[in-house]
Amino acid sequence: MNLAAIMQSEAALLLPTYERNPVLFTRGRGVYLWDSRGKRYLDFLSGIGVNALGYGHPAIRKVLSKQSSKLIHISNLFFHEYQAELAKRLTAMSGLDRAFFCNSGTEAWEGALKLARAYAHEHSRNGHKAKWRMLALENSFHGRTFGSLATTHPAKYRAPFAPLLPGVNFVGFNDLHDLNRQFDGSVCAVCLETIQGEGGIRQVSPEFLQLARDLTHKHGALLVIDEIQCGLGRTGEYFAYQHYGIQPDIVTVAKPLAAGLPLGAILASNEVASCMHPGLHGTTFGGGPLCCAVAIEFLKQMQLLLPHIREVGNYFRLKLEQLAKKHPAIREVRGSGLMLGMEIESADLAKVVARKLLEGGILINRTHETVLRFLPPYIIEMKHVEVVTRAIDLALSGSKSATQSKIVPKSPTRARSNS
Ligand SMILES: Cc1ncc(COP(=O)(O)O)c(C=O)c1O
Repeated sequence: MNLAAIMQSEAALLLPTYERNPVLFTRGRGVYLWDSRGKRYLDFLSGIGVNALGYGHPAIRKVLSKQSSKLIHISNLFFHEYQAELAKRLTAMSGLDRAFFCNSGTEAWEGALKLARAYAHEHSRNGHKAKWRMLALENSFHGRTFGSLATTHPAKYRAPFAPLLPGVNFVGFNDLHDLNRQFDGSVCAVCLETIQGEGGIRQVSPEFLQLARDLTHKHGALLVIDEIQCGLGRTGEYFAYQHYGIQPDIVTVAKPLAAGLPLGAILASNEVASCMHPGLHGTTFGGGPLCCAVAIEFLKQMQLLLPHIREVGNYFRLKLEQLAKKHPAIREVRGSGLMLGMEIESADLAKVVARKLLEGGILINRTHETVLRFLPPYIIEMKHVEVVTRAIDLALSGSKSATQSKIVPKSPTRARSNS
């Protein structure tokens, strides 16, 4: 079927949940994708942070082919070789003690919220109601299932499904006063993304994270950190919270963990994990042998790439900051490592830039309306950064902005090369 036929079929047959770009991708290799007409795209989105090793990575292909011929799924009623090995690596990287494997980001986050409530029940004193409130942050995004939605802030995701999980309150982003004001003895967990992804690549301040850690420690509550988008090497550390020098009680990961296969994980301290017992939580597919074998290989590759992520990430950020000096329409450059965002003065202009890049064979996306989001594969090189920043420069130079460009571009029609 060609693109037009597929679009027509999907329009008739699928729930209308997505507004897809009219591109039919048929294959990928390295940092590139090809569509059905043979057009090549440089991928700076990596399937929203999933394809962190790009496409067709030889080490991943090797594990996939070997393991898929041995065993794909066995259920959690039996043992296989890889869950403990994967848990060993993730706990060593995170400073936590135990793991639970599931299928997606939202499933990991749901499990983390359940764990926080179970811990609160376990630690409630005789005759006292267990702590139940959860504090989440303004602009947060934690997924689409009910608990995740309840801790996700924007009304557009939540309102049509109300009533959601009770007991969740939102704290102003990086607002120390508001956190102090809303925190009391009824709070069982403070839940946050270290760098908000869907919320527009916004970093939690060190002071805010420290206060969240201090308050939760002091009152026997938990610090639950969502590293589904910012974790697993994305910022140049194993986990983004490691830039802050704090240790959470529960961490969730997913997206790149199995290099494109669906796999998520909850990581927890021994103290928190001790409130679980057989039958209290589970999943059919989560942590199958194929996904776990691939994830072990992903972690090995990610570990090797950390210095590269920091180096290319710093270079990319520098180039984006240079663009910000040139184009007043760029309000701010934010993020860390290879999780970067560029705030544009209006949603319309951000949309135009993303569209022009797509037309020119570059994939990025727009989040929080006005933010261009960059989540490239960890294997990009400086030359790819050059291509993308040059394309943004051209797109902004040739687009109407409310404010004028500070410098007139030398050659607005120069041809783009994607090599
Ligand atoms: C920070 C964060 N948490 C949770 C999720 C939900 O993950 P999934 O879409 O795999 O359910 C996402 C997805 O974008 C995310 O960015």
